[in-house]
Order: sequence, then C-alpha cells, then structure tokens
Amino acid sequence: MPANTVKFLSPEQPLADKPRHVAVIMDGNGRWAKRYGLPRAAGHRRGVEAVKKISRIFVRRGIPYLTLFAFSSENWKRPPTEVEALLKLLATTLERELGRMHENGICLRVIGDLSRFPAPLQRRIAEAVALTRDNRALNLTIAVNYGGRWDIAQACRSVAESVMGGQLSPDKVTPALVESRLCTRDLPEPDLFIRTGGEQRISNFLLWQLAYTELCFVEAYWPEFDAKHLDQALMMYARRQRRFGKTGEQVRELQA
Ligand code: IPE
Ligand code: IPE
Ligand code: MG
Repeated sequence: MPANTVKFLSPEQPLADKPRHVAVIMDGNGRWAKRYGLPRAAGHRRGVEAVKKISRIFVRRGIPYLTLFAFSSENWKRPPTEVEALLKLLATTLERELGRMHENGICLRVIGDLSRFPAPLQRRIAEAVALTRDNRALNLTIAVNYGGRWDIAQACRSVAESVMGGQLSPDKVTPALVESRLCTRDLPEPDLFIRTGGEQRISNFLLWQLAYTELCFVEAYWPEFDAKHLDQALMMYARRQRRFGKTGEQVRELQA
C-alpha cells in the first residue's frame, strides 16, 4: 500500500458510506503482459476479462455506477499496431459482450470524442447505448478517446454556442451550468477513484469531476485486479472522512 494512502483513524471518526460511483483507471496491462513474456495485446485482452469480472462484482456489491478509462486522448501516441489492437478489441468486445451485458441489466454509456472512430464503430456504440438505456443493475460508462481537458473544452464550446445564440447570458455561467455540459452530465460525481498499476497520477481522466473524489492507488496491474483488491479499496474508502471543505467536527455533528 503506498504510504500516502495510509490514514490515521480515530475510533469516533464517522465512516463514509459505500460509494455510489467508482471511477477506475485500468492501468498496467502492458506491464502485466511483459511479466509473463507475452505481447502487450495479450495484456489488453486479459484486461477485458477483468472488466467482465469486476462488472459482475459491482452488481453483486450494489454499487450502481462504474466508469472505466479504456483509451485516453493521448493513447493515440502509442505504436500504431497497439492502437489498432486496442480499437479492434473495443469493437469485438462490444460485438461479443453486448447480449450478455443487456441480459445482466447493464446500462452502457460511452464517453469521449467518438468522432475519430470509424463510422460503423460509432454506429455500433450508439446502438448498444440505445439498447441498454433502461437497464438498472449497473451503469457502466466506458471512456474512450476521452481526456478531461477535451471534456472541459467541449463543455466550454457548448456554453459559448449558447451565449452566441442568445439562449444564455454570460452571468448564468456557473459551475453547475458547466457541469451540465460535460459528457458525464447524467452521472453522479465519482465518490471513489481507483488507479491500478502503481502510478499515482490522473493522466487526464475526469479532471473536473474528481474535484472531491477519494483517491486510491493500487499496486496490482489491471488484469489481476479482483474482488479482493476492490474490497480493500472499499474498506479504505469507508474509513475516509469526506469533509467537502468543512471541519471534521462539523461533519461529525451532521452525521450524529
Ligand atoms: C492500460 O494499460 C490500458 C491502456 C492505456 C489502453 P497500459 O497499456 O497503459 O499498461 P502499462 O501501463 O504499459 O503497463
Ligand atoms: C491512462 O493510462 C489511460 C488509460 C488507462 C486508458 P496510461 O498508461 O495511458 O497513462 P500514463 O501515460 O502512464 O500517464
Ligand atoms: Mg499505462
């Protein structure tokens, strides 16, 4: 456990509830593959298996929102063969798993700049989202070609268009208004952020949305992340006191 995740607990410290929304940077596929002498693509394939497993565990744990970072706006800088393998994996996973996801009550959302993807893939994504729209067991959001800076910029563009069009006056541009233009507008704020693979950075994930999220960094590589790791993160989360700018005493009083 990294030193900065260890926290002193006083016996009377109020506990955070179970998170409603968990956002995950699934990192370490490549290093996992290397450890076993496999190509990086094999690590990504195992990463998909981990997504399937973890989604089922979320349903069982009754955590309604899971958001996964699958491909960042910076991941295009990787070797073309890896980018191609990742996009192919996205398309085949969607094709193979959609039926099962729908049966299991998963409501799928995809966030990110999809305009860079081939038109048939964009269409398949839109169909999958429409098919699963009313499912309630788990809200699974996959971030592809997503970047936090892109999200904020596209929200700004949308606000600017409303102002230019005369539907919005500049003095109505508040944090809540900007938030309503982010591509996560249908999701609650993430309560818990988990990054696997040992790195302690945000890598342009949900920059705006993570403002008050509890951060948890896990050494395990994503393909090996399982129920045990998740439960450790949930236990760590349960011990945190979320103050949102208030004092610890104020929070305790509110919870009493
Ligand atoms: C995360 O694993 C998956 C993606 C970024 C697509 P990585 O591929 O980044 O694995 P490492 O960090 O190189 O081990
Ligand atoms: C972040 O991982 C993106 C995803 C997991 C999709 P990276 O492996 O791309 O992040 P950096 O480059 O190490 O910061
Ligand atoms: Mg990585």
